[in-house]
Amino acid sequence: MPDQALSIRNLMFAYGESDPVLDIESLDVARGERVFLHGPSGSGKTTLLGLIAGVLSGYRGQIQILERDLASLSGAEKDHFRGSHMGYIFQMFNLIPYLSVMENIVLPCRLNPARRDRLGQKAAEDAAREIATHLEIGELIEKRVTSLSVGQQQRVAAARALIGAPEIVIADEPTSALDQDRRERFLRLLFENCQRDGSTVLFVSHDRTLGRLFDREISLPEANRATQAGAA
Ligand SMILES: Nc1ncnc2c1ncn2[C@@H]1O[C@H](COP(=O)(O)OP(=O)(O)OP(=O)(O)O)[C@@H](O)[C@H]1O
Ligand SMILES: [Mg+2]
Repeated sequence: MPDQALSIRNLMFAYGESDPVLDIESLDVARGERVFLHGPSGSGKTTLLGLIAGVLSGYRGQIQILERDLASLSGAEKDHFRGSHMGYIFQMFNLIPYLSVMENIVLPCRLNPARRDRLGQKAAEDAAREIATHLEIGELIEKRVTSLSVGQQQRVAAARALIGAPEIVIADEPTSALDQDRRERFLRLLFENCQRDGSTVLFVSHDRTLGRLFDREISLPEANRATQAGAA
């Protein structure tokens, strides 16, 4: 099993012809580590996560995930690799509005054999029920996601990221709509799941007070040599 979950070297990225958003000499995350990434709005956090997940391309330098070089994968291979090895909780959730909570949560297992295989004999629906109950949305499982509160939708997005025990869980501001107590509770539930599965966690938030709950904090403005005009 590789020791490194993430290894970045001399990463440069710009949107089109604009000034570089990211210029990172080196950034490493070990397997099983829980890392808190912070920085002001506009400092490039979502951009960095998008590159790591392989949804953004056109960068210079090297990004290795689980010791695979992302640049060596075709677009379709990247999609497959992401679906198999990463659970991504998006800043805007990206839930499928016309599906139920259950259907949203089991989706990664439908789309990625590796995620389904890691459940062993267990049916995806049973695994979804377990995770949903753990995240305290078990009673909502048959509801449409559009009928849920924002905080409940965030937990559906988390359950969908966690099902099938992906090696890396990436979360982009998933707690911004929750009050302080609920943020900490959400994090503890997320960590319990990730610890059981041995998953690495890369978590982004503005809320610096959450940093103490993690193994390590990374300040993006410190790691990033590209200066962000207008970052607030
Ligand atoms: N699709 C895009 N096209 C062009 N520029 C973009 C695009 N997405 C982001 N940017 C720019 O890249 C910079 C970094 O944006 P990014 O979304 O990564 O910041 P962030 O740290 O996630 O901010 P926030 O905390 O507000 O979510 C900003 O200057 C932003 O305007
Ligand atoms: Mg962002």
